[in-house]
Amino acid sequence: MKVYLVTGGAGFIGSNYIKYMLKNYKDIKIIILDKLTYAGNLGTIKDEIKDPRVEFIKGDIKNKDLVNNIFYRYNIDYVVNFAAESHVDRSIENPQVFLKTNVLGTQNLLDVAKSHWIIGEGRDGYPIYKEKVKYLQVSTDEVYGSLSKDYDRAKELVLDDQELKNIVKDRVELKTYGKRFFTEDTPLDPRSPYSASKASADMIVMAYAETYKMPVNITRCSNNYGPFHFPEKLIPLMIKKILGGDKLPLYGDGTNVRDWLYVKDHVKAIDIVLNKGSIGEIYNIGGFNEEMNINIVKLIIDSISKIVKEEVDYQEILNTNLEKINYDLITFVKDRLGHDHRYAINPTKIATELGWYPETNFKAGIERTIRWYLDNQDWVKEIISGDYCEYYQEIY
Ligand code: NAD
Ligand code: DAU
Repeated sequence: MKVYLVTGGAGFIGSNYIKYMLKNYKDIKIIILDKLTYAGNLGTIKDEIKDPRVEFIKGDIKNKDLVNNIFYRYNIDYVVNFAAESHVDRSIENPQVFLKTNVLGTQNLLDVAKSHWIIGEGRDGYPIYKEKVKYLQVSTDEVYGSLSKDYDRAKELVLDDQELKNIVKDRVELKTYGKRFFTEDTPLDPRSPYSASKASADMIVMAYAETYKMPVNITRCSNNYGPFHFPEKLIPLMIKKILGGDKLPLYGDGTNVRDWLYVKDHVKAIDIVLNKGSIGEIYNIGGFNEEMNINIVKLIIDSISKIVKEEVDYQEILNTNLEKINYDLITFVKDRLGHDHRYAINPTKIATELGWYPETNFKAGIERTIRWYLDNQDWVKEIISGDYCEYYQEIY
C-alpha cells in the first residue's frame, strides 16, 4: 500500500486531488498536512477526513520536526506538495509570507523526504533511494512570465471536445502553436512576488534532483477553476458577487488572457505524472482554453442568468433581482501592479509522453461550477472567515 503525504490538502486543488485519489484507488493511505490558513478549510474535506484511509494533521510545511515525525510514523512513499500561498494580489501586498511558505516550506519538505528515502551511497558518491518514492512539486505557468499582446488569437484555440482530442494527439499541429505558448523549455521569468516564490521553489526542487539525484517531478499548470475554489480568485469571486448583485471588478481593461483548466482534469494529470512521469522531468499542464477576462465574466453572467431563469428554486439564493444580472455589473477598476498579460500552456509533452489531455469543455465546466456554487452556499459562507473579509475591506 502506497502512503501519500499531501500538503495543502484543505485548499482548492489539494482537496480535489484527495477526492479523486480516494475515488480511484482503494488501497492507499493519505496523510494530509495543512496549516489551515485563510485558504484552507476542513469543511472542504469533511467527508474525506472521516475515511479510514485518511489522516489529517494541522501544521506547517516549514516545521522540520513535524514533517520528520510524519515520515517516521507513516513511512511516506510520495509527497505531493500543494501547500502554498497562492494569490497574486496578496503577494503584492505582503510578499514575505510567500517566500517563507513557498520557498522555505518546499526546501524543508525536500530535505526531510531526502533524509528518509536515502538507503545508501552509490560508487559514484550519489545517494541511493528507496524504490518507488517520489516528490511532486505542484507549480504554475506563472513562473514563465507573461506572453506578449502580439498574439491574442485565443479564439483559434476554442475547440469542441473532439477537435481538442484530435489536436492534442496531433503532435505536428501542436508544434505549429509551440512558439506562442509556454513549453517546458521556456526560460523562467517570474514577474510577481508570488511567481518569483514559485520559480524559486522549482529551482530548489531541480537543485535537489541534480545535486542529490532525488526522484522528483514538477508540474506547471495554468489557471484552474471548479468546485471548492476560494472566492478571492476571478471565477468564484465573480459568481459570488453576481449572486449578491454586487459590482464586478475587472482589472485594467479586462483584456488580460488566462488559460483555464477544469480542476478535475488537473488532478488527474498530477496522478498520471506521479505514476508515469520520468524522474527529474517537468510537465506543463494546460487547458487549450485561453480567454480574455472580460469574456469570462460575461460568460459567467450569461450562464447564471440562464440557470436561475430555468430553475426557479435557485432564485431564493439571489440577493438581487434576476433582471439586474447583466453586463452593467462590470466595473473596470485600477489594474493589478505588474499584471501579466497572457498565459498559455503548450501541453504537448504530457499529452504525447503520458497520454493526458484536458477532457472538460469550458462552457460545460463553467456551468457545472456555477451549479456547484449555487448548491453549496453554506460552504461559501463558512469559508469566508474574518481574515478574508478584513483583506477585502482593505482592497475595495
Ligand atoms: P489554495 O490557496 O486554495 O490552497 C493552499 C492550501 O495550502 C491551503 O489549504 C492552505 O491552508 C495550505 N497552506 C498554506 N500555507 C501552508 C503552510 N505553510 N503549511 C501547510 N499548509 C499551508 O491554493 P490552490 O489554488 O489549491 O493551489 C495549490 C497549489 O497549486 C499551489 O502550490 C499553487 O501555487 C498551485 N497552482 C494553483 C493554480 C490555480 O489556478 N489555483 C494553478 C497552478 C498552480
Ligand atoms: O496561472 C496559474 C495561476 O492562476 C496560479 O498559479 C495562481 O495560484 C492562481 O491564483 C491564478 O493566478 P491569477 O492571478 O491568474 O488568478 P486570479 O484569479 O487572481 O486572476 C485571474 C485574472 O483575472 C487576472 O488577469 C486578474 C484578473 N482579475 C482577478 C480578480 C481577483 C480581475 O480582473 N478582477 C479580480 O477581482
